[in-house]
Amino acid sequence: MNKAAVISPDMKWWQKTIAYEIYVKSFKDSDGNGTGDLNGITSELDHLKELGVGAVWLTPCYVSPQADNGYDIADYYNIDPAYGTMEDMERLIAEAKKRDIRIVMDLVFNHTSNENEWFKESRQSRDGEKSDWYIWADPKEDGSAPTNWRSIFGGSAWEYDETRGQYYLHTFLPEQPDLNWANPEVRKALQDVAKFWADKGVGGFRMDAITYIKKPETFEDGKPDAGDGMVGIHSMTANTSGILDYLHEFKSAVQEGTDIFTVGEANGVSASDLGQWVGKDGVFDMVFEFGLTGIDLPDETNWCETREWTLFDFKSFFDDSLAAADAAEGWFPVFLENHDQPRSVDHFMPGEGDRIARAKALAALLLTMRGTPFIMQGEELGYVNVNWPSIDDYEDISTKNHYEFAIGEGYSEEEAMEGVHRFSRDSSRTPMQWSASENAGFTTGTPWLPVYPDYSVFNRDLELDDPDSVLSFYRELADLRNKHTELIDGKYQVMIPENEDIYAYSRDNGSKKAVILINFTDKDVSYDPGLIKDAECILSTVSDEAAGVLHPYGAAIYEMNSH
Ligand code: NOJ
Repeated sequence: MNKAAVISPDMKWWQKTIAYEIYVKSFKDSDGNGTGDLNGITSELDHLKELGVGAVWLTPCYVSPQADNGYDIADYYNIDPAYGTMEDMERLIAEAKKRDIRIVMDLVFNHTSNENEWFKESRQSRDGEKSDWYIWADPKEDGSAPTNWRSIFGGSAWEYDETRGQYYLHTFLPEQPDLNWANPEVRKALQDVAKFWADKGVGGFRMDAITYIKKPETFEDGKPDAGDGMVGIHSMTANTSGILDYLHEFKSAVQEGTDIFTVGEANGVSASDLGQWVGKDGVFDMVFEFGLTGIDLPDETNWCETREWTLFDFKSFFDDSLAAADAAEGWFPVFLENHDQPRSVDHFMPGEGDRIARAKALAALLLTMRGTPFIMQGEELGYVNVNWPSIDDYEDISTKNHYEFAIGEGYSEEEAMEGVHRFSRDSSRTPMQWSASENAGFTTGTPWLPVYPDYSVFNRDLELDDPDSVLSFYRELADLRNKHTELIDGKYQVMIPENEDIYAYSRDNGSKKAVILINFTDKDVSYDPGLIKDAECILSTVSDEAAGVLHPYGAAIYEMNSH
């Protein structure tokens, strides 16, 4: 029998719960238009509840022309009609609350849509009220773009505007002009947006592309990093000094006195900078770092170049980030995939090995690592990457641009498609697979993105009935966290760090200690049974896992008293 589990009383609600990312467009369609919507989400809240989820991050569902599936916002104060109405949103927040679930809004504040009224006004003249709300610059003497910066989605990061006779900066698509955070009116307008949503009762904010909000004082060419003569904008503008001042201001204006949490999308922030970003004196409660997702990709611009990695690199990521977050008295969001990343089964356990075992092994890691786990929709069903044959089958604009870039750099069609198969964002965006019925029960209409054909086997309803499914394993893990609370509040310590096949670590809260063992290979591997001396196995992916041996992609969780 377990002693009654007590979690450290000073932990915040969002540190104790499980978070879940919903790609709104692909979750559940309630009206047959082929796109997911808010009422669809409300109808499936129980699925999330059963997974132990307490925070649901919604990708942007504000009014948007959808050049980047909602990350181009035309009106921060209204819901896109394709997704529903403000009443639907209020109902979703209220229904979620009944189940102890808080809604987390995605604040896209580095840029707006070019159809946002702010931008429409800004582009009208050089001396209007909002002329300075975006990043405008004069052409070079020869009329070309102010600098040679390449946008993250490819092509120049500058777009010429006839009316002003100037260029505007866009870190992402030309349809996503960057806001000028140096202007206090802009910062105030964004704070007002956040307060509006806080007043609606949301539980948190995910801050999109936040490391790009501060631009350098002067705009200068960088050393070209590819045959196109350009340099990736990331290396020129990410984490510009002074950025934290803006974010401290945001924190005190919006967050102080609330129980809302913030998680920043902090591309370019590594473990060594974490102290300034999270924790008591930081600007956010958590930041998503990309050290792990980039483990096999040396350059985000070029999907054709990959890097060999080993389990040591994987372990180091958690060792370093958790140590840095702890040192700052900060907290860590654990994620293995999101709507911009490949499916984790293919990413971190590539190969032909048993897909279910691989998905369960990664689930064991996700839900037992120190930090708040973020499950990406479909991850709990064991999704893998789509492998569509032609670039024309893909929808995502960044995928198409990466493909064009690769062809432009001289890679073959086959090489370019291999990159697409490995990294396309469409893999994490295919519709949610609810049942074996037509369109996987996602929509009665035509889905905006094809449903992955494996839905007849991998779907929520079937997996719910199967005790050996990936979904059942997720539910067991969620349950386990509540019963064995060292999995929530225990300190992390890597074990057998020199082992190249097994990732082993402990979570110890001073009363109980859990030992987690995960085999990252497709063969049986053995370890010293002394690691789990006097311990009880509380969960394992296979029934015949013997102490001292882990089957291919096997995972086992043991528990013992703390010493
Ligand atoms: C990061 C988001 O996660 C991604 O989906 C989006 O395309 C860019 N930021 C631009 O907003």
